[in-house]
Amino acid sequence: MQEIFDKANTILKQIEAEQPADAAGLEQFRIKYIGTKGIIKDLFGAMGQVPNERKKEYGQLMNVLKQTAETKFDNLKDSFGDSKAKSSESADLTAPGFTTDFGGRHPISIVKNKMIEIFSRLGFVVAEGPEIEDDWHNFTALGTPKDHPARDMQDTFYISEDKNTLLRTHTSSVQIRMMESQKPPLRILMPGRVYRNETISARAHCTFHQLEGLYIDEGVSFADLKQTMFYFVREMFGQNTEIRFRPSFFPFTEPSAEVDVSCFICNSKGCPVCKYSGWVEIGGCGMVDPVVLENCKLDPKKYSGYAFGMGIERSTMLKFQINDLRLFFENDVRFLKQFKNAK
Ligand code: PHE
Repeated sequence: MQEIFDKANTILKQIEAEQPADAAGLEQFRIKYIGTKGIIKDLFGAMGQVPNERKKEYGQLMNVLKQTAETKFDNLKDSFGDSKAKSSESADLTAPGFTTDFGGRHPISIVKNKMIEIFSRLGFVVAEGPEIEDDWHNFTALGTPKDHPARDMQDTFYISEDKNTLLRTHTSSVQIRMMESQKPPLRILMPGRVYRNETISARAHCTFHQLEGLYIDEGVSFADLKQTMFYFVREMFGQNTEIRFRPSFFPFTEPSAEVDVSCFICNSKGCPVCKYSGWVEIGGCGMVDPVVLENCKLDPKKYSGYAFGMGIERSTMLKFQINDLRLFFENDVRFLKQFKNAK
């Protein structure tokens, strides 16, 4: 054990005796004693072999050693000039640099941003609402009767015993918040994450994204809605895209429709994506039900409006021909990397 102390003392004397003559010699000194693989590091490592009662003494000796070496190095460094700066003189400045690998946007964000950009040309502005909602904003104000199947535990994640607090099942809840807090004219886009208690598969997930739109003003008609959707799908999926409205039902719109676009993957000839029908569904829409306006203290005799809601995953799958929705949530870089330069 005494040998460890002897060795350390010998090294200390050695350091004191060292006299590097130039910057290169100083660099060797640094590597030999102070470097990460240097002698001092080694000696520190021997601490484990020192008995407890002498550990303090050994520690102090180590500090003296370290400080002696460092002070010597710092002093000589100044007199030789910065050894690092010197060595960079020999670097090849014409060598190509290292590129920094930037990340890219998630495909869902790419498509969401594109959708927002298209609608913003029509004067829509973005608003957001909470993902944890109450029954009023997610269901009741939207005219969903108490016995509607959407309230079933199968579909909704309730997070309070009395079922008043829940994870929003659609972004339509934000429509209510906007109509309650702002005066028409309203032209709002509401993107966001929604939750449903679904079995996870290639086509369904318990969490996904929607883009909701709402336009309230005097004299808004279904023709305005049709034209807006028409403009959107052509900008989004290509100028040859056809659009089709299918009568549907939502508790908060009347009349309601489902929006289909002609399958741009097979040019409507029929393919697995459109299930050989030539059409793919992108979302629901309709004229805001007067009852909903009343629930938000807006006069239905004065105001009318339309709303639409689209699944962002669905449009992203169509746009990038992705066949499994689960890929969006796994965040496998091999998948994500493919969208680095996508627009
Ligand atoms: N909220 C509906 C859904 O989740 C979509 C929708 C929004 C329908 C707005 C009509 C108007 O399916």
